[in-house]
Amino acid sequence: MRTGVNPLIVGNWKMYKTRDESVAFVSALPDALPEDPPGVWIAPSFTSIHAAAEAAEGSSIVIGAQNMWFEDNGAFTGEISGRMLVDAGAQFVILGHSERRQLFHESNELVQAKVKKALAVGLKVIVCVGETDAEREQGKAFEVLETQIKACLAQIEPDESTIVLAYEPVWAIGTGKAATPEMAQEMHRHCREVLKKVWGGKISEKILILYGGSVKTDNAPFLLKQPDIDGLLIGGASLSLENFSKIINDSSILVSESKRMSGL
Ligand code: PGA
Repeated sequence: MRTGVNPLIVGNWKMYKTRDESVAFVSALPDALPEDPPGVWIAPSFTSIHAAAEAAEGSSIVIGAQNMWFEDNGAFTGEISGRMLVDAGAQFVILGHSERRQLFHESNELVQAKVKKALAVGLKVIVCVGETDAEREQGKAFEVLETQIKACLAQIEPDESTIVLAYEPVWAIGTGKAATPEMAQEMHRHCREVLKKVWGGKISEKILILYGGSVKTDNAPFLLKQPDIDGLLIGGASLSLENFSKIINDSSILVSESKRMSGL
């Protein structure tokens, strides 16, 4: 976290929570938030987006989606377009999550097409990248990230207000085996260097880069203290109101501390 950067804490609910459960969570969360909260975004399942967005009205919580298709309409049975997400009340979409890449065979090219369309319909995007265990063991982690970032973003007009990058090592997702803060920092720095090559220095310093993969209440503050970690993308721990709000409250304390130390 860098001084002056408001962190972004995102909950990815994956295939959990019914509408009632989503609404109960989103309705209760504001009371558990600090006075000056960081950015708080939640991606419920498709069926809960509309109800959750209504429940979030009047609060600072932003509701989004976990995936979308890159066409507006058409014969794409089972798919949902960006326009439909906007219509349901979504303000952002997570694209290129490793579960989409691994279980549903999404390529970098497909992710890039989705990013283009999402931005065109007015959604913000969180683009996920990350290496597998095998790629890390073969010493290819840096190369994999570079390839993914370039292939997903090279043709995209840079804009720090609509594009967020998430580094999520595949071996850390849902495994309880998070990257150490130092390891994550090294990879985040690398992501920023690659963004610099793609988009230039100024913008790469402004883009938020989130860490995701087994973020819990106990490791979140240590990850957020790293200079190139601007926020967190949280799966399992975001399903519990207690854990999610603790992570948010702790990040808000870190922001106040860093402001105090830098005399802001
Ligand atoms: P996890 O998931 O926090 O449960 O590891 C993170 C993610 O998939 O975004």
